[in-house]
Amino acid sequence: MKTFDLLIPGEINPDLILSGDVEPQFGQAEKLVESATLTIGSSSVIAACGAARLGLKVAFIGVCGKDFFGRFIIEEMQNRGIDTSAVIVDPHRPTGLTVILNKGHDRAMLTYPGTIPALRAEDIPDDLLRQARHLHVASYFLQHGLRPGLPRLFERARALGLTISLDTNWDPTGTWEGVLDLLPLVNVFLPNEAEAKAITKAENVEEAASRLHTRVETVAIKLGKEGALGISHGQKVRVPSIPVNVVDAVGAGDAFDAGFLYGYLNGWPFKKSLRLAAVCGALSTRAAGGTAAQPTLIEALSFL
Ligand SMILES: Nc1ncnc2c1ncn2[C@@H]1O[C@H](COP(=O)(O)OP(=O)(O)O)[C@@H](O)[C@H]1O
Ligand SMILES: [Mg+2]
Repeated sequence: MKTFDLLIPGEINPDLILSGDVEPQFGQAEKLVESATLTIGSSSVIAACGAARLGLKVAFIGVCGKDFFGRFIIEEMQNRGIDTSAVIVDPHRPTGLTVILNKGHDRAMLTYPGTIPALRAEDIPDDLLRQARHLHVASYFLQHGLRPGLPRLFERARALGLTISLDTNWDPTGTWEGVLDLLPLVNVFLPNEAEAKAITKAENVEEAASRLHTRVETVAIKLGKEGALGISHGQKVRVPSIPVNVVDAVGAGDAFDAGFLYGYLNGWPFKKSLRLAAVCGALSTRAAGGTAAQPTLIEALSFL
């Protein structure tokens, strides 16, 4: 028996969300916003929270500073029942922060990395891997410390019997280096439409999905309000999302990942897992930030 369904090695940082119909202006202009919320940031932590909310047993490993932002995220994870005993507190580096300027359906982000790139694959011991059924990696392109050691980490995890999922999120450098080579080591790949097209250089998402499926057994592509498209072991399916009053889409993709992994780890049929993922993504947009509106399993099931 494994202690954890899911182990997530990832970055730790809060989001400061400033919402309003305002654009910042230099020249020392002060403008007022409608709300300011300090909340859980980072794709990896938001996915961990989504999975815990659905009822999966989750452990998190990452690096944060010995400061308020680090303590804030650790406490928020613990409040949701996530095991944080493997989190590394570095007294010499501050925790990162993302400031999100949220304006209706659009947003601008400013990120101070801090400890975001600090975790290395070597920091994740076999003893921890052994306790989990599944390993999920997000924010591939922000985790500079983790990236070079990922092939070896994935090989270690596979040898210990874990299945593996990857959500790269966007590549700020636009090169998408390393992703295609990593896919044969992964069981489930979870990009959004823009990422899938950029990685495969395909003109449309169907073609992108087919190309990705030649390298990975299960691909689930997020299509925003259109839902999702996936191919698993040759079976191609499309699922719709549900209509929602979007407050902000921060973390919708991470809630989607959590939903998909819930189905995957419980042996659900592919289409049902994909639909749960789409519903979890949609419901998460009902409140500001990534975690406030993540559904419980009972709530999500009522939309299936
Ligand atoms: N405006 C929306 N209306 C309904 N569902 C949405 C909306 N935005 C996102 N979703 C749901 O959340 C999922 C993930 O969102 P998406 O924006 O595609 O991912 P990412 O955050 O990775 O870019 C989608 O597949 C969809 O099910
Ligand atoms: Mg995403």
